[in-house]
Parts: sequence; structure tokens; C-alpha cells
Amino acid sequence: MILLPDSHAMAAAVQALQQGQLLGLPTETVYGLAADAENGAAVARIYERKGRPSDHPLIVHVPDVAAAQHFAADIPPFALALMQAFWPGPLTLILPRRPGAAESAAAGQATIGLRSPSHPVARQLMLAALQAEPPVRGIAAPSANRFGRVSPTSAAHVAAEFGDDLLVLDGGDCEVGIESTIVDCSRGRPVILRPGHIAAAAIAQACGLPVDVHGATGPGEHALIDDAEDDTPRAPGTLTAHYAPNAKVRLMDAASLQAGLDVLGAQARHIAVYSRTPMKSASRELVLRRMPAQPEQVAHELFRLLREFDGLGVRLIWIEELPAGSAWDGVRDRLNRAAASA
Ligand code: TXA
Ligand code: MG
Repeated sequence: MILLPDSHAMAAAVQALQQGQLLGLPTETVYGLAADAENGAAVARIYERKGRPSDHPLIVHVPDVAAAQHFAADIPPFALALMQAFWPGPLTLILPRRPGAAESAAAGQATIGLRSPSHPVARQLMLAALQAEPPVRGIAAPSANRFGRVSPTSAAHVAAEFGDDLLVLDGGDCEVGIESTIVDCSRGRPVILRPGHIAAAAIAQACGLPVDVHGATGPGEHALIDDAEDDTPRAPGTLTAHYAPNAKVRLMDAASLQAGLDVLGAQARHIAVYSRTPMKSASRELVLRRMPAQPEQVAHELFRLLREFDGLGVRLIWIEELPAGSAWDGVRDRLNRAAASA
């Protein structure tokens, strides 16, 4: 059931959290499948509903730094600097977990992923939940998609994933469109586990430390999760073949893409093309979408487009390779993962 976030819906949402029920929650990045982070049974419901292996930790959403301190202990100064710079916003920090806090949301890890989202509906809900009796201090929320599928960027996407019995607060289309940047702050220096809207350079500048980039993948590369000498928890966002639409995704340079279309000629069917360079085709059935010039614009529409292509019954998605440069890291990472499942 999709509800506009009026006062009744917000009260129902707080009550749902208090009662250990799940909720579709808008954030500025993607929609989350939310529950009280300190209610083990509710957290178990998230794993079950998503079909997510229970050893993959969830991000806990908090209204502010004070609430973060409830879940994390010994927060290093550089992590506090990142909170100051980017919260509320699309940045998740992996921090040492306060012993006993949100055990099941953290999947038993010694660390916890915390984020303070900026979406007004998410903020309003977190604040109301914190003030409720009994209070809900943190909201565990993975992306509201079934495990391994494309993250939802609208309320309708969430309803399409989980059906009509889930309460979904409608916060409109997500502005950022790809999941938050994840920075591991538990190793004495910032390490990016998942690239996103907030780029490595901005993180380095805000905390005055060099930043390692660990999560980004190239086609066929394996992410941190497969790094045997690393004790990082299994992380679905870092599985290579995550973000998979039904269609097969291929990344090509503009010339190869055009050559492929030329070979198929009028026979090109069930194919979608997403390119910056204008393409020509003799087929009337080709689904052609022009890629915007800025990485933020591509991030904003990417997951919606992948769903749209699936809805059109497309079997192949041909995407023009992205420009070089770290500003494209977040989008490049999602595209490489989508292509890796092909
Ligand atoms: O933008 C986002 O981050 C969205 C919205 C809803 O906030 N959430 C999201 O959650 O993308 P999810 O569960 O789909 O991805 C969270 C990622 C996973 O790869 C998870 O393993 C990793 O964060 N993660 C969570 N806690 C962690 C921890 N303690 N250590 C390492 N990775 C962690
Ligand atoms: Mg996810």
C-alpha cells in the first residue's frame, strides 16, 4: 500500500516500526526496506523478505551524530569530520560497533554501517520514531529490492518488488538514484567499499587523509568480498553480479555499438541502447535512450531505465562505455556489476 507521507501515514509508519513491522522508506539515494534496527525479529523479517543471506549486514539509519553514538563506539576523529561534512546525505560509514548494539542488523560483525539520510520523509520519520514511546533509535534498511536485483528509486518500484501489503511511504523519485558511498572507518584510515555520489576526492578533502578505493570493480574483476586476506564481511553491494536486470547488459565503445546495430539492421529487436553518442538503426523496434552528459544525471535515471527496459521485454541492453574520470566511479561500478551478470 503506497501512502503519501501525511501526518496519518507518518504516525502509522512509526507504529509499524514500534511493532516490528517492515516499511518501504524513501531516501535520497534509493528506497529502503526499513525496520527497527534494535528489534531482532523485525530485522530477521527484512532478511527473509529480501531473500538476503543473514550474514550480510544492514545499514542502520540515524537522525544525527548523537544517535550514531548509540550504535558506534570509539568513532575516530576523521569519521566525525566526514559526518560533519556530509550528513545528512548519501554517505555510509562503517564504524566500530558498540558492544550489544543492533547485533542482528550488523549480522554479528564487530562493526556497524551508519548513515543519516537527507530525504525529508526519512528525516521526519527518524525524528518522530526517536521521540516515540518506546523510541526507535535506528532504522535498519537495505535497498528495497529482492536480493541481487536492481534497487528501487520510486514507491511504485518497491510495491512491484514486494506486493501491496507492504506499507510504502511515497517520497517521490530518489534524487541521487544510486546507493550511498560506503566508507570503512574502522581501519584507521578511510577506505571506500562502494563508490557513490560522494566521490573519493571530496572524502579526502573533508577529512584531510588519503582515501583508498577498494570497492570499485571493473568488468570481470572481483570485489573486496573475494579478497581472501581481508576479513571484511560478505557484502551484497560488493558482489560482482549485483544490480542485475532481467536483460543482459553489455558495455561497448560507440563504434562497436554502432557496428552491432549495422549488422542487425532492421532485425534489431528486444534491444535497448543507452548511449551518449547518437546511434542509427534501420530497426523501428529498437529502444533508444540518450545518456545525459553528467554522471549525476545518469545516476538519477539509471535504475529506473533498467526497470523500464525489463518492462518493455528487452533482452539485450547495449550501453556505451562511460567517460574516464573518478566522477563516474559510482555509475561505472553499477554498470560493471549489471554487465557482470550477463
Ligand atoms: O543508499 C543506501 O545505502 C541504501 C539506502 C536505503 O540507505 N541502502 C543500501 O543498503 O544500499 P544495502 O543493504 O542494499 O547495502 C548496504 C551495503 C551492503 O553491501 C552491506 O554489506 C554493507 O553495506 N555493510 C553494511 N554494514 C556493513 C559493515 N558493518 N561492514 C561492511 N559492510 C557493511
Ligand atoms: Mg542493495
